[in-house]
Amino acid sequence: MATTPTLILVPLLHYLLIQLLLLPYQQHVLTLAAPGGGKWNLLLSNIGVSAMHMQLLNTDRVIIFDRTDFGPSNISLPNNQCRNDPNDLTLKVDCTAHSVEYDVASNSIRPLNVLTDVWCSSGSAMPDGSLMQTGGFNDGDRNVRVYKPCSDDSCDWQEFDVALRQRRWYATNHILPDGRQIIVGGRGQFSYEFYPKKAGADQSYNLPFLSQTNDPRIENNLYPFVFLNTDGNLFIFANNRAILFDYVNGLVVRNYPTIPGGDPRSYPSSGSAVLLPLRDLQGGANVTAEVLVCGGAPKGSFTSANNGNFVGALNSCGRIRISDPNPQWVMETMPLARVMGDMVLLPNGNILIINGASSGTAGWDLGRNPVFTPVIYRPNNPVGLRFEAQNSSSIPRMYHSTAILLRDGRILVSGSNPHAYYNFTGVVFPTDLTMEAFSPDYLDPRLIRVRPMIVSPASHSQIGYGQQLVINFKAQGRINRGFITVTMVAPPFTTHSFSMNQRLLVLTNSTGISASVTSLGGSNYQVRVMTPGSNILAPPGYYLLFVVYREVPSQGIWVQIK
Ligand SMILES: *[C@@H]1O[C@H](CO)[C@@H](O)[C@H](O)[C@H]1NC(C)=O
Ligand SMILES: *[C@@H]1O[C@H](CO)[C@@H](O)[C@H](O)[C@H]1NC(C)=O
Ligand SMILES: *[C@@H]1O[C@H](CO)[C@@H](O)[C@H](O)[C@H]1NC(C)=O
Ligand SMILES: *[C@@H]1O[C@H](CO)[C@@H](O)[C@H](O)[C@H]1NC(C)=O
Ligand SMILES: *[C@@H]1O[C@H](CO)[C@@H](O)[C@H](O)[C@H]1NC(C)=O
Repeated sequence: MATTPTLILVPLLHYLLIQLLLLPYQQHVLTLAAPGGGKWNLLLSNIGVSAMHMQLLNTDRVIIFDRTDFGPSNISLPNNQCRNDPNDLTLKVDCTAHSVEYDVASNSIRPLNVLTDVWCSSGSAMPDGSLMQTGGFNDGDRNVRVYKPCSDDSCDWQEFDVALRQRRWYATNHILPDGRQIIVGGRGQFSYEFYPKKAGADQSYNLPFLSQTNDPRIENNLYPFVFLNTDGNLFIFANNRAILFDYVNGLVVRNYPTIPGGDPRSYPSSGSAVLLPLRDLQGGANVTAEVLVCGGAPKGSFTSANNGNFVGALNSCGRIRISDPNPQWVMETMPLARVMGDMVLLPNGNILIINGASSGTAGWDLGRNPVFTPVIYRPNNPVGLRFEAQNSSSIPRMYHSTAILLRDGRILVSGSNPHAYYNFTGVVFPTDLTMEAFSPDYLDPRLIRVRPMIVSPASHSQIGYGQQLVINFKAQGRINRGFITVTMVAPPFTTHSFSMNQRLLVLTNSTGISASVTSLGGSNYQVRVMTPGSNILAPPGYYLLFVVYREVPSQGIWVQIK
């Protein structure tokens, strides 16, 4: 098997790296981080809803919601409230909640009120830190819902009826440089629109690419992978190929080649995709942007799975420089095949591939053989030394599961409900209401001496574009200043194996070479970097800012760029 050397060698290298980090400080501890590393913790055994959609807010609270039309959930609305919805398809008077807020600090859940159906919808954090969710199903398919974060328990969803031009079910959103969202596609919608609307002329616009990539029997181009390229155009991947799209003028700027092999990667084939960390930001519109698409289900899998034949998932990733005029896909092989995985950008610029199954597809009861083992991808390593399998969990995370990065560097993992109802018995994969955290081994307590701690600026500071940012931090032990980086991560809206708006920028000093670090004496250091030069590189809003030593990140602080 071509992947065997990777499986053995990379964990070994990583093990040695951690030993190297520890060596000067801890002569006695030589048993750290068995190859494979990472740690799983069960945070809550029942959050009341299955986490189909998740978004981290700048209050370190996570908005979670499922759908409203499967009957009662496992958490009641507060104060004996009930939702009266004559249009609900299952329960017209429902006294349970279908959305909750998870507070990271207290590890607790609070029920929220969502009125109409938010099933398989989309959304984005806005420049002011609110979550703006769009669409859904049935009576909710053209609604917009806003959640303004608060640090007490007073906030809840606000709902705006029939705010969209088209119904948007299985669409993808992206935040734009002007602070609005674009909403791309959805079931039966070969079009896009913007929200908030500009007065008057703001319509839904046709996007023929979405009908060209649609197989009407399967609709295998849903939840397209959308990224804002560094030139201001949108990369849109659906089914097995992508375009670069000028959304201002409605023009296709570039047709990218079909991904080798030609297998579909978007829903229900449900691979996942990330924009790799953006570096060397001084290049402005010329900054190199690369996309990595991993896993999915081979062509025909959906039909096969419906006939009870669960075809093995894809084990390939395709990597492409979307900013090049004429780029080619470069294929790589994952140590494990995976469909319905989630790809999460870690604060140090590595990618975690987590959740999902090794056969079948997305859709009701169409997945089999859960993949319990997350894999880390190191984009800057040489080919063949990029993937590293991690320690496994024991809870299947099948269809409708999610994973997101928290400010402290852990990955929050929840959801899994491949049924139209909450079914806890009599099914292959029962509805799962647990919440776990995966801690990559950069959180190993034995790394405390080299873990940076940000002293200033204060969290929630505002920053501008193209300005010098001075960050003071501490590190208990001796560090080599040449190995400090500063990263900014946009917290995404995650559902159906795709994290909308997920974006990581590696900041550099004004020379564009690296971060400038000076020692302030003792355990105090200062690093000077330039903030991103434009709202194309970093659309306005809240980001998590991390100081990273080698692969070990500080806790993040929130910064608002505008
Ligand atoms: C990783 O898994 C190994 C083997 O299952 C286990 O011994 C080790 O404790 C795990 N590491 C952590 C950090 O949980
Ligand atoms: C969820 O609620 C159902 C119906 O009330 C109940 O049968 C089931 O035991 C509950 N499950 C959990 C995990 O609480
Ligand atoms: C981008 O590249 C073009 C063509 O090489 C060059 O003219 C322009 O100055 C570059 N822009 C930046 C910000 O480096
Ligand atoms: C799943 O739950 C629904 C609603 O309670 C029920 O009608 C259905 O029979 C259950 N399915 C199975 C396989 O038990
Ligand atoms: C940027 O960092 C490089 C490498 O550390 C250093 O040579 C250069 O002087 C720095 N530039 C500024 C403006 O700090």
